[in-house]
Amino acid sequence: MSLDAFLEDCAHRCQRLLEQSLQSSSVQDNLLLDAMRYSCLNGGKRIRPALTYASCVAFGGSLSAADMPAVALELIHAYSLIHDDLPCMDDDDLRRGQPTCHRQFSEPVALLAGDSLQSLAFALLAETPVADGHLRPMLALLGRAALDMAAGQSRDLQAENTPIPLDELESIHRLKTGALMQASLCLGALVAGCSDHSVLDQLKKLGGLLGLCFQIQDDILNVIGDEHQLGKRTGSDAELAKSTYPALLGLDAARIYGQRIRDEALQLINHLGLHNSILCELTHFLVARDR
Ligand code: IPE
Ligand code: IPE
Ligand code: MG
Ligand code: MG
Repeated sequence: MSLDAFLEDCAHRCQRLLEQSLQSSSVQDNLLLDAMRYSCLNGGKRIRPALTYASCVAFGGSLSAADMPAVALELIHAYSLIHDDLPCMDDDDLRRGQPTCHRQFSEPVALLAGDSLQSLAFALLAETPVADGHLRPMLALLGRAALDMAAGQSRDLQAENTPIPLDELESIHRLKTGALMQASLCLGALVAGCSDHSVLDQLKKLGGLLGLCFQIQDDILNVIGDEHQLGKRTGSDAELAKSTYPALLGLDAARIYGQRIRDEALQLINHLGLHNSILCELTHFLVARDR
């Protein structure tokens, strides 16, 4: 299967399941439910679900086995984007080609929609039937990843208007973006029945590298990307004096660094014996993408 077909398939599954999950979420306020639906049924590349599906399949599982972990990861991601766009954080008006959640609804509703999407992710995962003994580590992994993401976001905010060393920037990227990717890969493997700790450790390392190269490309696209194609505003990192790879290294060096990290990730995939999996193509896509 080509990468495009795989991504389309993952996005389609994810969309259907998100619709069903929100439909049966029994959120007892229609305004809140509307804001939750608005923020996760509105497109998005569904990269984290794709990583979960790809990992599950690479370890011998079926796509359907990865459905709920994939949805849980996307819900946490959607929550992180709503909060990331709030005026007290990046103060963005456009996300996925539409007004951001707080612009469409209100700040309080956006705050609560983010909180609720996060809670729903844990509830759905906890209700998922998985092989004996796997549920607790899966819930713990998701919780730790969400915590790491929030810590990365906090450090990202503290680094506005403050020059930081490269190793701190790398650490921020690994947390704010890598943590959910690590969890995507590990949950996919766990749900496929792989509980080998050394393999899971390698997958965490891989997720960190993927997060890093994904975020480097995100920062590059914030400088040179096409707003229409990205569905979000460009130039905002410079306005907020964000510490990013292009800001610290320059565009060319940032690109080269992203490619170096990508190659490290590909080596790790080889080392795990997964060189025939769609994970390789996904890795190439993360740094070559223009949306
Ligand atoms: C954007 O993530 C936020 C980052 C972590 C860089 P994506 O680029 O995956 O956003 P969507 O889901 O496709 O909109
Ligand atoms: C978003 O990072 C990371 C998370 C939401 C965890 P950015 O703030 O750099 O991403 P965009 O450019 O708004 O999507
Ligand atoms: Mg941000
Ligand atoms: Mg942002």
